[in-house]
Amino acid sequence: MFDQEVPLPPCNFIIFGATGNLASTKLLPALYRLELAGRLPDGLNFVAFARRELDDAAWRAHVRELLTDGLKAQGETLEKFIRRFDYLRGDLEDPQAYAGLKQLLAKPKLGVCSNIVFYLAIKPGDFGVVIKNLDAAGLSRPRGLNRIVVEKPFGIDIESAQVLNQLLHRYFDESQVFRIDHYLGKETVQNLLVFRFANTLIEPLWNRNFIDHVQITVAEDVGIGTRADYYDRAGALRDMLQNHLMQLLTLVAMEPPPALEADALRDEKVKVLRSIRPISRGAIHAHAFRAQYKTGLMAGSSVVGYQDEPGVAPDSVTETFAVAKLYVDNWRWRGVPFYLRTGKRLRQQLSMIAIRLRHPPQQLFRETPLEVLEPNWIVLSIQPDERMHMEIHAKHPGLGMETRVVRLDASYRTPDEAPLDAYETLLLDVIEGDRTLFIRFDEVEWAWRVVDPILKHWAQERDFIHTYAAGTWGPHECNRLFDKEDTEWRNTV
Ligand code: BG6
Repeated sequence: MFDQEVPLPPCNFIIFGATGNLASTKLLPALYRLELAGRLPDGLNFVAFARRELDDAAWRAHVRELLTDGLKAQGETLEKFIRRFDYLRGDLEDPQAYAGLKQLLAKPKLGVCSNIVFYLAIKPGDFGVVIKNLDAAGLSRPRGLNRIVVEKPFGIDIESAQVLNQLLHRYFDESQVFRIDHYLGKETVQNLLVFRFANTLIEPLWNRNFIDHVQITVAEDVGIGTRADYYDRAGALRDMLQNHLMQLLTLVAMEPPPALEADALRDEKVKVLRSIRPISRGAIHAHAFRAQYKTGLMAGSSVVGYQDEPGVAPDSVTETFAVAKLYVDNWRWRGVPFYLRTGKRLRQQLSMIAIRLRHPPQQLFRETPLEVLEPNWIVLSIQPDERMHMEIHAKHPGLGMETRVVRLDASYRTPDEAPLDAYETLLLDVIEGDRTLFIRFDEVEWAWRVVDPILKHWAQERDFIHTYAAGTWGPHECNRLFDKEDTEWRNTV
């Protein structure tokens, strides 16, 4: 996104897990949209690597159907996109499959250059075996050239993340590694940097003197779908909070970097993570809360509870809702709680950062009909709507001293400007070799350090978990985390 020096684009892009959920719902549509926008280099070929018994023709028919159904794709661009693909059937564990990949890459169509992207759109538990097999087949060489993309969660705790990182670094330099957190590709998230650092109006307010607390919510209305195999082992804390929500926190809390360069930005994010007050064992209940959805109504229809989802153990205590209260102990933020909340099967899809400002120091309007003024908010909505606004009080026109909340709207997309999918931005960055919006390992490590005590504690509490009816905003017991009585969750933009 910001890097000045643009390395050569890759010629081969291998998607491991090509028939899986991530590839079907995110990667293929995003790559196709890049094709439509004319952003894919001419010589770029894709290899779809998956276990399913398909040949090239069947795979191409699969992609055609997927994109025709989902994106109403058709015509010459769709055919051009589909022609870029070869299909390779193989098991991730089977070294022969990688030998086959090497042979395929040596074929004239694919063999014109050697710069390759390996995209691991697979379960995190399979990363290790793929990395080793790539190396055994000689595909990690020459060192320093190819790119490897790994999805979050990176490891399942701090130790496993370190082991995985050592393994990656055995064969790849850090400059080759792209750790994806797709929230960083979202427009409002990137716009947060502009909002904070391109406006003199904001910076003086952005600290403990003016901000009462910060709420970061990523609420989903969907359940776990067909992902029980992964999700039941991960849970909401690992799946969302340790990465997406903590990345949002770093962008809200960081200091301006000295330059808009990948490492300068990441340095500032790491400083935030390092400043987060460690949660001691005895304080877990005051800082973290978990719950699981049970049956309930979503848009008028009944949905099953988590334990009845296909593939989930009937006595599972995996959390589908997680809340954490974190403090960033530095000069800017000391004493300001950051409440992070995420969950599945909540009332509606809503991702936002809501910043509540302090009350004015003087209660000037106490003797008027206004009595208690609602606090000011700055709201950055990430999805479904991308918008930013500040809420301030203004006098209601008329004789009485009454106010109404007026929104200073900083939304920037006009109705005719199409929204970008986060994966479009990030995949283009992978192709162009720009790592600004990708995670450096120390970010991952420090984020694990923050949540590890919670994970360890929850791992021991195996016989109880709070529940909430699907279609609600989660159990009200989580409000015990609030520092002040007048704090409530903000559930609307
Ligand atoms: C993924 C999680 O990283 O993010 C999923 O694994 C979650 O569980 C998804 O549904 C949410 O992404 P988005 O972009 O739809 O908010």
